[in-house]
Amino acid sequence: MRDKLQQIKNNFEEELKKIKDKNSLEELEVKYLGRKGELTLVLKELKNLAFDQKAEMGQLANRIKKEIKEEIKKAQNNFQEEPRQFIDVTLPGDKIERGHLNPLTIVQSELEDIFSSLGFMVLEGPELESDYYCFEALNIPPYHPARDMQDTFYVDKKNEKGEFDLVMRTHTSPVQVRGLEKHGVPFRGVVPGRAFRSEAIDACHEHTFDQMEGLMVDKNISVSNLISVLQELLKGIFGKEVETRVRPGYFPFTEPSIELDIKCLICEGKGCPSCKNSGWLELIPGGMVHPKVLEYGGVDPKEYSGFAFGLGLTRLVMMRYGINDIRLINSGDLRFLEQF
Ligand code: DAH
Repeated sequence: MRDKLQQIKNNFEEELKKIKDKNSLEELEVKYLGRKGELTLVLKELKNLAFDQKAEMGQLANRIKKEIKEEIKKAQNNFQEEPRQFIDVTLPGDKIERGHLNPLTIVQSELEDIFSSLGFMVLEGPELESDYYCFEALNIPPYHPARDMQDTFYVDKKNEKGEFDLVMRTHTSPVQVRGLEKHGVPFRGVVPGRAFRSEAIDACHEHTFDQMEGLMVDKNISVSNLISVLQELLKGIFGKEVETRVRPGYFPFTEPSIELDIKCLICEGKGCPSCKNSGWLELIPGGMVHPKVLEYGGVDPKEYSGFAFGLGLTRLVMMRYGINDIRLINSGDLRFLEQF
């Protein structure tokens, strides 16, 4: 009987090793401990044993039974099913936040669409620019006082000639000559992009701001072409005719130069802090491209003429949305950005 019990225990152990899932574990339990299980049958035989053996075998059988039970329990724990997850399909779902565009990007892409429809290319140029393209090729030689109006951030690195000539571009105008060099004439292009100046920062001035340069060079281009293109773009951006006025201006790279103002949309011309109480806002400077600039771009000024303008993109955005502090635009403040 002792051997038989030991044999049962050994067999059980062998079989247990092969068990891989809960069902077969249950079957194994029945096979050994069930009413007709192998161990149960042996236990039933105990009563036929001689009295002195009965006690000893009884103890052994019970110990083995207990061990088998414990091993089954342990194995059951290994096959414990994951608790069921209940999904309540009637609950409202989690809101997935969608990002959106900065107002500057919105206006910029609208402008790009308008200009593309007028046959203009959309160009880019480097933000870290050479002194040559930023000033000299725009008819602003080193001694020229116009440089003082555009103080910027100079980069502490010399070029091959040992000069400090890298600057953060103060305007998008350098792409005028770059564009002419690359694409030749006839030329129609706009250049949206960032510009940088060493400014005292306040609600109207930032060290980093956006502009959109425009340049058209062809035969027989005049100021009237410039004005009509600018009016077309204002209509597109504001969705209605806006009142404009043209004043003479001065820029070294245009001759003659103009300033196009629009009637202040915030106070409708009555005068408010945004328009410095004048009722008008200086929005787009421009003019006829200076012959020297055409020459720098490899274009013969006797044969070709052109207009250029430098739209203050940041200012246009402020006008359109009635934003009264320029610092909000690049602030990354979600309370501001989420309104667009
Ligand atoms: N680059 C000038 C500025 O940032 C703006 C400007 C004026 C651009 C006249 C032009 C122009 O193309 O013709 O102050």
